[in-house]
Amino acid sequence: MNEITLDVKLAKTKIDRNIYGHFSEHLGRCIYEGYWVGEDSQIPNVRGIRKDVVEALRKIKVPVLRWPGGCFADEYHWRDGIGPREQRPTMINTHWGGVVENNHFGTHEFMDLCAQLECEPYICGNVGSGTVQEMSQWVEYVTFDGKSPMSDLRRSNGRSEPWKLKYFGVGNENWGCGGRMTAEYYSDEYRRYGLYARSYGDNQLYRIACGPRNDDYHWTQVLMEKAGHDQLLGGRYMDGLALHYYTSVRRLPDGSRVGFATQFDEAEWIEIVSKGLFMDELVRRHSTIMDEYDPAKKVALIVDEWGTWYAVEPGTHPRFLYQQNTMRDAIVAATTLDIFNKYCDRVRMANIAQTVNVLQAMILTQNAQMLLTPSYHVFEMYTVHHDAAMVPVDVQSERYEHAGYSVPAVSASASVDASGKLHITMSNANPHKDIAVKAFLRGMRVSRMPGRVLQGDAMNAHNTFDQPNAVKPKAFSGAQVTGEGLEIALPKMSVVVLEVT
Ligand code: AHR
Repeated sequence: MNEITLDVKLAKTKIDRNIYGHFSEHLGRCIYEGYWVGEDSQIPNVRGIRKDVVEALRKIKVPVLRWPGGCFADEYHWRDGIGPREQRPTMINTHWGGVVENNHFGTHEFMDLCAQLECEPYICGNVGSGTVQEMSQWVEYVTFDGKSPMSDLRRSNGRSEPWKLKYFGVGNENWGCGGRMTAEYYSDEYRRYGLYARSYGDNQLYRIACGPRNDDYHWTQVLMEKAGHDQLLGGRYMDGLALHYYTSVRRLPDGSRVGFATQFDEAEWIEIVSKGLFMDELVRRHSTIMDEYDPAKKVALIVDEWGTWYAVEPGTHPRFLYQQNTMRDAIVAATTLDIFNKYCDRVRMANIAQTVNVLQAMILTQNAQMLLTPSYHVFEMYTVHHDAAMVPVDVQSERYEHAGYSVPAVSASASVDASGKLHITMSNANPHKDIAVKAFLRGMRVSRMPGRVLQGDAMNAHNTFDQPNAVKPKAFSGAQVTGEGLEIALPKMSVVVLEVT
């Protein structure tokens, strides 16, 4: 009944490491406190950026980081965030709690953070409340090498060389907080703003259009038709289309969510697991529309916001979106990453929201303390898939059913890396039952299969500042070699990675 079948000879399409990307916004304690503590802080830092957070994120090989928003992006005016910090103007972060933003973390600090993380920067420009000129000049400021007003301004702020900037978002959620536009109107705006966001010298900009919210297939259809290609002269207008989908129990009219991150019953466990799996249908159906206009799959589907979204932790600011993170989130992370791996011919970047202290974070901080969440550990275990060749996996799973929901208990994905190692990642969403899975492996003989497992002792198992290592990966010895491959004893509510040679 529970079987996975794969043939390593079918490994072909690359799993772009950017599928394991991240998103960090000026929201709550993500940028400030999460990364930025300032040069004079007691917390060890490099040029104002926390050392512990950078070190931890380097271990999960963050490939790309999206910034400054989110909804914040369409209210952000980049010129407020350059020059001497004490002279930078303040603004009100109207979308996220009306708090004062001092602009101490701006373009130079973000590019420094990316350099420290050794990741690609992905900047999202302001379409909703900014001008074409403002966006165009930001790109010029960052990437132009010659002499120009913006490159001179950059030099006067201490940076002589241009930065390399590939990924550039032309607005965020322009159907909502980014300007309440229709798909038809945004398509035209995208074409105009995208035109003036220039590629200078050898810096080839990869333009990402605002994509659909959840299952808004009309948005994808219109964008692909009107803003996908230049019908007169040929060529592509967009390189990527950005889908957003959050997994939550229920959304209230004010945008907040019900259901807590750590206090939930089995009905809410399976509801979240089931809603997480909806990503499969979303990716498949949006891709089908994209296939119609772009059968060669040149335009990527970029899921640049995804993750779980709960009611905030009691006693915290309602607009700071601070939530804990449990084994339930680890299962959603694992199953979602399996989905992205499966569709890696179209999904070439994804950015989980939001790295530190916000939504489905990798890291939580409290003053000088830091903890790694179960989701962090999943991202660490899945680093084996970065840029590896995806091996299609046929998964036959028993159903896990509860409270009217029914989901496949087992999820899996696999890849072969540059050294020829096969990696299989698997998860078991059933919180009660260990599952024996037969793995039929074609095209290879198994000699070794060391593995690791992430498992909690309860559905809401999580790490706290008092017990930061309650949930962390351990060595896994539940796999045995069989005549046809492996038999794996997949523990209840667990995530497993195997290295098969
Ligand atoms: O990630 C939080 C918010 O969710 C982002 O700012 C916005 O783009 C989305 O609605």
